[in-house]
Amino acid sequence: MACNHIYPSILSADFANLGSELQAIKTADAAHIDVMDNHFVPNLTWGLPVVKRLHEVSPIPFDIHLMIEDADRWAPQYAEIGCESVTFHAEAAIAPIKLARTLRENGAKAGMALRPATAVEPYLDMLSELDMLLIMTVEPGFGGQKFLEVTLPKIRRAAEAIRGSGLELRLQVDGGITEETILRAAEAGADTFVAGSSVYGQDDAAAAIAGLRAAANG
Ligand code: DX5
Ligand code: ZN
Repeated sequence: MACNHIYPSILSADFANLGSELQAIKTADAAHIDVMDNHFVPNLTWGLPVVKRLHEVSPIPFDIHLMIEDADRWAPQYAEIGCESVTFHAEAAIAPIKLARTLRENGAKAGMALRPATAVEPYLDMLSELDMLLIMTVEPGFGGQKFLEVTLPKIRRAAEAIRGSGLELRLQVDGGITEETILRAAEAGADTFVAGSSVYGQDDAAAAIAGLRAAANG
């Protein structure tokens, strides 16, 4: 597939050197920024002030993944600071359609994420409100977990629905993406791949990104 995108997740980067860790992935399409609140997931990362400063020094756009309970309140603020895409969880948002519209009004691409056990079918009627659908391929909260093969049929169904709708919607996968698993996700229909440990766990992040690109194309 021609339009595959690789989004390294800085969750696996060296937190003492985030500025240079962003430079190390400048050949990627965007940096994936995991915001966790220790409520929606049992882990805690960074919030708006830290992300805002990192965005100012980043050579590539930011893709925000909000694993937080109060998404309706916080998501628009990440759009306001200029992040290219902002993804909230369907399980967390109180008013997902309203929130997606607010994100677009604030100049960001609107993304919605589904945990591995959340069905995609209830959300198919709102695809036109979104620019990206994220199918989590691990339970959100931590890097370095194993890709959940059980999510592949859902990726296939989501890809079919997107194709059938004729909409320009990216289908993102996040969790356990490696040179081994990426092709299965791509064949199921994903086109945007988040990779944390398989990029920052390597000596050469740029080589790892190139390797993932090549592997996604089969
Ligand atoms: C996990 C995060 C992911 C994480 C992926 O909840 O959403 O973005 O960084 O890490 P890997 O690629 O190591 O599975
Ligand atoms: Zn993520």
